[in-house]
Amino acid sequence: MQSERLRKPHRGVMKTLTSIVAVSRKGAIGCKNELPWRLKSDLKFFRETTSNNVVILGRMTYESIGKCLPNRTNLVLSHNAVLFQDTDDCRVVCSIEESLFAASRYSSKETFVIGGASTYLQFSPLVDRYLITVVDKDVPDADAFLSEDVFGDPDNWNIRSLGEYPAVQGVDEAPFAVYEWTAKDAARRESLRRSLVDEFFSRNHLLKRSTKRAPSKGVLPQQPAVPLLQL
Ligand SMILES: NC(=O)c1ccc[n+]([C@@H]2O[C@H](COP(=O)([O-])OP(=O)(O)OC[C@H]3O[C@@H](n4cnc5c(N)ncnc54)[C@H](OP(=O)(O)O)[C@@H]3O)[C@@H](O)[C@H]2O)c1
Repeated sequence: MQSERLRKPHRGVMKTLTSIVAVSRKGAIGCKNELPWRLKSDLKFFRETTSNNVVILGRMTYESIGKCLPNRTNLVLSHNAVLFQDTDDCRVVCSIEESLFAASRYSSKETFVIGGASTYLQFSPLVDRYLITVVDKDVPDADAFLSEDVFGDPDNWNIRSLGEYPAVQGVDEAPFAVYEWTAKDAARRESLRRSLVDEFFSRNHLLKRSTKRAPSKGVLPQQPAVPLLQL
């Protein structure tokens, strides 16, 4: 597994790195480590967009979901390399660079950063596309926000509307609209990603690290305590 991880990255992979996020008009994205709304249609969009691809998520978001997302390659960011025992579809990565390197192994898949707040912010210089669901709901008790800093200068982005959706009783709690933001300096961002991947490879390929991580019982229960929405 480890030797596989440290093979030289493919050239020309991960043409695009997309962050996908749902946000209120005031920037709220979370409350008590959960999504602050129930939008089945948007979750379906999220599931269909990310399925069969690679997702990068922070440990808090992983714990919020309660498991790795099915039908996706999950790269969970944590400083704790033994957070859980890696499987083919779900593994711990200990830095942004390692996550990019790991994602670069999947040349036929797209890579999505799926949150949360700190993860979106750290990836912001590297992301060249956003899929943003703007939710028309006030979240007075929100405690996680999409920092304005993730976008920098708004003039650096091309913005396209992908659709507007009304609230439908029993389906979507609030109206929402979906936008695609594409960076005008995508080539520069891709080159930055590539240099981080190359640097990670150079730094690590000579290290004869142990091929096994210490077994871990994991911090999460096998089954979530409450039924999860099908993400
Ligand atoms: N609305 C949306 O679209 C959306 C999507 C996703 C999440 N959310 C919300 O966002 C909130 C969670 O966001 P958050 O900022 O608290 O947490 P997060 O980004 O999900 O996870 C943070 C954790 O990730 C790990 N991590 C982050 N950067 C790292 C790095 N460079 N190297 C190694 N590990 C790193 C650390 O784990 P360790 O502490 O284990 O080292 C850190 O504590 C929740 O409310 C969630 O519901 C909303």
